Amino acid sequence: MEEKRSQAPARELLPRHIGIIMDGNGRWAKARGLPREMGHQAGSKVVGEIIRHCRGLGIPCLTIYALSTENWKRPKREVDALLSLLRRYLSNMEEYQRENARLCILGDPEPLPRDIQESIRTAQAKSAGNTAITVNIALNYGGRAELLHGVKALARECAAGRLDPESITEEDIARQLYTAGQPDPDLIIRPSGEQRLSNFLMWQSAYSELLFMNVLWPDFTPEHLNYALYQYSLRSRRFGGV
Ligand code: FPP
Repeated sequence: MEEKRSQAPARELLPRHIGIIMDGNGRWAKARGLPREMGHQAGSKVVGEIIRHCRGLGIPCLTIYALSTENWKRPKREVDALLSLLRRYLSNMEEYQRENARLCILGDPEPLPRDIQESIRTAQAKSAGNTAITVNIALNYGGRAELLHGVKALARECAAGRLDPESITEEDIARQLYTAGQPDPDLIIRPSGEQRLSNFLMWQSAYSELLFMNVLWPDFTPEHLNYALYQYSLRSRRFGGV
């Protein structure tokens, strides 16, 4: 069955936060006899269209997985190509301003090249007041690394006497994550046929609905997103209750 639908479900049935693991770029390129970098380039072109579609539907938060803490293991040429795409993406914030979109980077920027760190600071500051949609780009992101970062911050609060270890709550942990203040993802979509989370939003995905699709990310269209939203609207969410 084709994983596409021309229309999204009614607004009250839509998720408040969607996470997308943009997978399948390498296979898309391979199928065309192209280098893997070309797959990432094609994949990066899809991002804007999906952000616009989410914004148009009134979905307030979207997180896309652009570079994981594990992706540094890839060949240097591929990592450099990904960084170039991100560099170009972050230096052009006009669309964010036009779409009233706020950019938020999830992950540790420290190992990234200096100029990208600077672009991140500028882009986040420029778009901080935008209210139509928050777009989180997970960049040098890993769920375990995020938890470790949060745990260290809580340990520092305890050591300084500002927090009692016995009274640490789930909310304390959540406020130390990169997504502090944001709703947990209601729906996580992974295209390309792989069925795993790959260290994506480990804490936040505790009750997310997961949808694995066969389309490769560079072929992903707003109609594929409509299909995912339709599948989500059919799910019965109980959060551990009955
Ligand atoms: C996974 O596909 C994809 C990535 C590791 C990178 C995703 C990055 C982009 C789409 C472009 C950069 C993003 C922005 C926002 C400009 P894969 O290479 O693992 O695919 P494969 O499993 O088919 O090999």
